[in-house]
Amino acid sequence: AKITYIEPDGHRQTLDVPDGWSVMEGAIDRELDGIVAQCGGGCSCATCHVYVLSGAVGEPGEEELEMLELVAAERKPNSRLSCQLEVSAALDGLVVQIPQTQY
Ligand code: FES
Repeated sequence: AKITYIEPDGHRQTLDVPDGWSVMEGAIDRELDGIVAQCGGGCSCATCHVYVLSGAVGEPGEEELEMLELVAAERKPNSRLSCQLEVSAALDGLVVQIPQTQY
């Protein structure tokens, strides 16, 4: 699915991310700025924080909600952990903004 990432400096990139990958993996694979993903997708680091600008991502699970309390940048209603967003056709056209900091 096509996922658009807006890096912290405002640079916008639309990538074709394979179904089954996480939105985090799509960013790491292309070495985008701003996603750290220290725990490698285990929902235990909160350094893969993104803001979802558009796209039907559903609601965060309980574990993700807990970790969202630890994000370094401002937590907003559209804050999500990108490792918990699984890419599928339903997410085609998703736009996420990467915050200025993950620490
Ligand atoms: Fe660690 Fe997402 S990569 S919480």
